[in-house]
Amino acid sequence: MKNKSANDTSHVFHFFLNRKYVSIARAEGIYLYDDTGKRYIDASGGPILCNLGHGLEEMAEVISEQAKKVSYVHRVDFTNPPLEAAAHKLCKASDYAMDKVFFVSGGTEAVEIGVKIARKYHLDNGKPSKTRVISRWQSYHGSTAGALAWTGATGRRSDFLPYLHDFTHIPPAYCYRCWFNKTPETCNFECANALENEILCTGPDNVSVFLAEPVSGMSLCGAVPGKGYFERIREICNKYDVLLMFDEVMTGMGRTGKMFAYEHFDVVPDILALGKGLGGGYFPIGAVAVPGYIHQKIADNSGMFGAGHSWGGNPLGCAVVSKTIDYLYDHDLVDRCHKMGKYLDHKLQDLSTHPLVGDIRGIGLMRGIEFVEDKKTKKTFDPKYAFSARLASECMKQGMFIEYSGGCDRGQSGDMIMFGPPFIINEAQIDEAVEILAQALNKDLLSDNSNFLTF
Ligand SMILES: Cc1ncc(COP(=O)(O)O)c(C=O)c1O
Repeated sequence: MKNKSANDTSHVFHFFLNRKYVSIARAEGIYLYDDTGKRYIDASGGPILCNLGHGLEEMAEVISEQAKKVSYVHRVDFTNPPLEAAAHKLCKASDYAMDKVFFVSGGTEAVEIGVKIARKYHLDNGKPSKTRVISRWQSYHGSTAGALAWTGATGRRSDFLPYLHDFTHIPPAYCYRCWFNKTPETCNFECANALENEILCTGPDNVSVFLAEPVSGMSLCGAVPGKGYFERIREICNKYDVLLMFDEVMTGMGRTGKMFAYEHFDVVPDILALGKGLGGGYFPIGAVAVPGYIHQKIADNSGMFGAGHSWGGNPLGCAVVSKTIDYLYDHDLVDRCHKMGKYLDHKLQDLSTHPLVGDIRGIGLMRGIEFVEDKKTKKTFDPKYAFSARLASECMKQGMFIEYSGGCDRGQSGDMIMFGPPFIINEAQIDEAVEILAQALNKDLLSDNSNFLTF
């Protein structure tokens, strides 16, 4: 049958099946270059992933050198020096708050393994009925059946709902559109207290783990909970012997201006899921890190954790993790991320009076903007306009790639973009990026009648 898509010369099964994709032929620093030589600022570092910047020779060398020594051994049967070194460096980076690390191939797998570790912990602690996972609406935890079931981003779940087990979600910590109609002055952490209600209704003996992103990723583009939120969550988890798992797939490895986002709050999670920036943007790798007491419980009882995938703990990926951590320290990039994040926020505030800019939020180099049709009422655009997709497309025309998403208003509508550039970005480059956004915002975006899809 004849292929009628816009990609009819391509055999790739793309995300947007009818889009003509720009082909990126090379990348350097914060820039991507397409096959015609046009330059784009990578303002989101892919999906908030390329933390170190593109085209680093030492990263390529580390992969090449490791591949020559040993590229693969199975973690069920062997350990290997890069695996041991990467686990040690990661624990050291947490000041040994985390003591053991399980490497996987990406963020979704990390979330799945983290939930399985919680299950195994409770089994080995003599509490086999503790199986339920509670997470939050307007969250994203990955795309497999488990991770998507715990995800609360309505649009990402909808096509696959029939395959998802029925887990419960509590309201997000989303101050701009507080589900409890509170303001920061009247807030009593109702969204955190909702966890206690959910645990009680589910039955504390049935709840295994509460899963949350410490700072929201693409489903709320940089929503940061108020001080005290996670402290309250931690108290509730402790009270009911529910483990606290942080999905730091996006926020981990320096993205928020600290090595791990939990360091911004007075809490340490029982399970920490990592991905994206863990490989610096050079290798698909994720990890689950746990404090010693979680591992000890399993070691002292069943002594086995029978989960994981073939590529887990492979020496190539682990060599990249060690190099990524060294690179972050050697170039003081976490601190730089904090400083450049502040500068970016300062520049973005210039857009705060724009009639379509509803909220500017975030931390470190994770800075989101939410757009509204009416600033006063916070009325969202009709999703049929796919406003944020149009805005991102205009930015591309003007030489900047930026991630966008929707669904922040209870999964029904809402438009956002998120800046998450490599940590090496400088002030002049930030000025240029914000200027491109400002120019794009001033176009009559809704007059373009191309068909934009959003999710
Ligand atoms: C917070 C969060 N968790 C999990 C994932 C899933 O990671 P991956 O796409 O590497 O499987 C993502 C990806 O966007 C994410 O942002």
